[in-house]
Amino acid sequence: MSDFRKGFVAVSFTDPSPAAPPSPTARTADVSHQTVGILGGTGPQGRGLAYRLARAGQRVVLGSREAERAAATADGLGPGVTGTSNTEAAREGDIVIVTVPWEGHAATLGALREELAGKLVIDAVNPLGFDAKGAYAIRPAEGSAAEQAAALLPRSRVTAAFHHVSAALLTDPAVETLNTDVLVLGDSRADTDAVQALIGRVPGMRAVFAGRLRNAHQVEALVANLVSINRRYKAHAGLRITDV
Ligand SMILES: NC(=O)c1ccc[n+]([C@@H]2O[C@H](COP(=O)([O-])OP(=O)(O)OC[C@H]3O[C@@H](n4cnc5c(N)ncnc54)[C@H](OP(=O)(O)O)[C@@H]3O)[C@@H](O)[C@H]2O)c1
Repeated sequence: MSDFRKGFVAVSFTDPSPAAPPSPTARTADVSHQTVGILGGTGPQGRGLAYRLARAGQRVVLGSREAERAAATADGLGPGVTGTSNTEAAREGDIVIVTVPWEGHAATLGALREELAGKLVIDAVNPLGFDAKGAYAIRPAEGSAAEQAAALLPRSRVTAAFHHVSAALLTDPAVETLNTDVLVLGDSRADTDAVQALIGRVPGMRAVFAGRLRNAHQVEALVANLVSINRRYKAHAGLRITDV
């Protein structure tokens, strides 16, 4: 394989290969006993991640600005899923995934600094704008949504992942395996290993370490391209990284 091809990002459609390649996680972590909290868990992305993680045996607590809404949403997602307020989901989660819209990102995390102290936070937020020409990436003052999370949560272990995983596929029970790579970013090897281990529990999902949080912007921004791909080809495009 030439140096040029190494690290090439392949944008692929829903199910390009029958089986996921083996995970490139070098060290293993066991997160199976940990509870996953999901902030903004009533939306398609939070619901979809909850559904997939619960199917893999993970305990999941959905969060919402309205606890009743999260409880009602959790009802349909399997026995391992419960619903409560964002505050309680942050408290109960050992690992907390952030799936609120970019517009609510700073306010949501800023209000949960205490509850999220010491927690492994996985930011899945893509700062995007939409206009008549389609989707475009927004560059936050901190550099990325993930870096904004790290700035707002100085006592949390902030990572980023799940940006390119389609909620439409996650929530579709007819889709048995997603067959997609998930880029994982973070500044601590132990933390990104734990996130990779969590992702690796979902059949078909392969987690690939993709750099430190300072490189999160282009990962978040690539979703604007995926939105364009999806519109042109009527697809739910995801990523495959070659040669790892
Ligand atoms: N959809 C996808 O395919 C996809 C894929 C990858 C990543 N993402 C990212 O995941 C995040 C969630 O996506 P989504 O499509 O699930 O979004 P969404 O439905 O717009 O929002 C998710 C939930 O966040 C809460 N929320 C809405 N506005 C809020 C605000 N201003 N402040 C705090 N909470 C608010 C709502 O729950 P309550 O009203 O119950 O609080 C809503 O159900 C986004 O940042 C997106 O970039 C999405």
